[in-house]
Amino acid sequence: MKLFDVYPLNNITITKALGSYVWDENGAQYLDMYGGHAVISIGHTHPHWVKRMEEQLEKIAFYSNSVMIPLQKELADKLGKISGKEDYQLFLCNSGAEATENALKLASFHNGKKKIVSFTKAFHGRTSLAVAVTDNPAIVAPVNETDNVIFLPFNDEAALEQCFTEHCDQISSVIIEGIQGVGGINVAKDSFLQLIRKLCTQYNAVYIADSVQCGYGRTGQFFSHDSAGVDADIYTMAKGMGNGFPVAGILIAPHIQSKHGMLGTTFGGNHLACAAALAVLEVIEQDNLISMAKQRGMYLLNKLKSIDGLKNVRGRGLMIGFDVPEELKDLRKTLLNDYFVFTGESKPNTIRLLPSLAITRKQTDEFLEALQEAITQLVPAKE
Ligand SMILES: Cc1ncc(COP(=O)(O)O)c(C=O)c1O
Repeated sequence: MKLFDVYPLNNITITKALGSYVWDENGAQYLDMYGGHAVISIGHTHPHWVKRMEEQLEKIAFYSNSVMIPLQKELADKLGKISGKEDYQLFLCNSGAEATENALKLASFHNGKKKIVSFTKAFHGRTSLAVAVTDNPAIVAPVNETDNVIFLPFNDEAALEQCFTEHCDQISSVIIEGIQGVGGINVAKDSFLQLIRKLCTQYNAVYIADSVQCGYGRTGQFFSHDSAGVDADIYTMAKGMGNGFPVAGILIAPHIQSKHGMLGTTFGGNHLACAAALAVLEVIEQDNLISMAKQRGMYLLNKLKSIDGLKNVRGRGLMIGFDVPEELKDLRKTLLNDYFVFTGESKPNTIRLLPSLAITRKQTDEFLEALQEAITQLVPAKE
């Protein structure tokens, strides 16, 4: 049987990983500045994470949500403490798209309304409603099209105010990434997030903070939305939550009430997923990784800003983007093939950095050196 060919693949087979490095089948070592798409939060195959999962596997890996699973409560308590949202409620699922789907659905159950506000360049996943609030017509199938979604320009306060004035009581939720990832590392202004909070409160709409990519400590705060100093009603989480084990969830504000049967999943919150998520939070706490992400990010951002040729260096913590001019269009490929460094991208010309929060200073320097050399290789200094 053939694989369904949907991914443009690099011709590299990774067989081993540790911390911020991965190795291919020939033993070549790569520096991972991409974190497997922002997923590797505490470092590849972290020993504590491996041990916690192994120990859990020896006991029980899965049972359905028809029985008590105390690990879920342990996870909720730890998550509440580390995120500072102790009075929120946790619903566990398996992927970012599923988190989005549940958040939007729950908002609509909560206020009985249908319209959703989303923003230009947003990415919220590929399932039905998640893709409908994603600003990329190429991945929206005809069956996913809906009149319920209103797209507004990102960070445009006047457009947001006008939309609420026009649609008054029809808006169920506003969904926004604190820092857009797939869209190219676009930072939401604090004043924009504050306005979303104000309007959602005023019009009984639900503020959904998509934290799948920008959350879990990556930006130097648990949720990147925290920088605005206001609380969202629902936070979505996935990627870094399990450090590679599929686990996701939503944090739900106390005023949103649950009802039996309202949400559900077979796999969400299983024993092994909880063990992975707990291991991640334990390492984040023990190694102070949120503050490390802030420090390393600041260091990287400042260094990148001083490199000739890179444009519009932006981001926060370890969620960083920069644009490359036409003459450096092959920079990402060169970094991978000649300098053995993985990075992410956003079309047309943005390079995205999403390394593990445990990246060391030495590794960031190693990256900066490789970057400088790759740039010089592509654009030799003029005499
Ligand atoms: C902001 C954001 N939301 C949602 C998703 C969807 O997550 P998943 O691929 O786990 O379904 C992604 C994935 O890249 C994302 O970046």
